[in-house]
Amino acid sequence: MNAGVIAIDGPAGTGKSTISKLLGDKVGAHYLDTGAMYRAATLAVLRAGVPADDADAVTAVVDAADIVLQPTGTGASRVLLDGEDVSGPIRTDEVTANVSAVSAIPAVRTKLVDLQRRQAENELLVVEGRDIGTVVFPDAVVKIFLTATPEARALRRHRQNLAAGRPSDLDEVLAAVNRRDHLDSTRAVSPLRPADDAIMVDTSDMTLEQVLDHLVDLVRARIGVAS
Ligand code: DC
Repeated sequence: MNAGVIAIDGPAGTGKSTISKLLGDKVGAHYLDTGAMYRAATLAVLRAGVPADDADAVTAVVDAADIVLQPTGTGASRVLLDGEDVSGPIRTDEVTANVSAVSAIPAVRTKLVDLQRRQAENELLVVEGRDIGTVVFPDAVVKIFLTATPEARALRRHRQNLAAGRPSDLDEVLAAVNRRDHLDSTRAVSPLRPADDAIMVDTSDMTLEQVLDHLVDLVRARIGVAS
């Protein structure tokens, strides 16, 4: 098997997670969801009762936390925080509302980037995040940056909420998307931005299947994996 990284970056709501998992299945690669690591760190901070913007206190909590991302086959992965499976609790609104503040702290990023690099040492990996092509794996064999308009991304999130039986207000979802985009792209350390050599894919008017087919073609062209 090829070793190497397929980097998938972009803001929330572009279909990034779903597409990255499916792409991993198609090209025979494990999938690493780096956002899940920042979410696990944020959960540790919330459980410790520490304010997410208190850099020193957050750093101490995250330094002491044992965060492990375990591939579970067919694209899925399980996140462990101090040995506990927190794959569900990291998806709450409270974690989502605090994760940008926690992930903006340089010491948090240093620790998690180090874990991500170690995980990718010997295998072909689809790595999904915000700074994968720019900072974590600048030598990735393929770098893809998924985009979509804020309105398209908010509408997807809103439909997901309704389908999951969660109350949802489209204007509020759009405001949250814009807020998180702003925080993630203006932070001082590793802001969300495409690498100079990333392939930009605007998914606003594409179905998941269309995006996936396009990405599989791009990856096969670069690394020649079998179908
Ligand atoms: O992909 P996600 O929504 O689960 O990511 C949660 C947050 O983590 C996101 O708002 C920004 C942060 N993040 C990051 O700073 N760097 C990454 N490589 C991945 C996620």
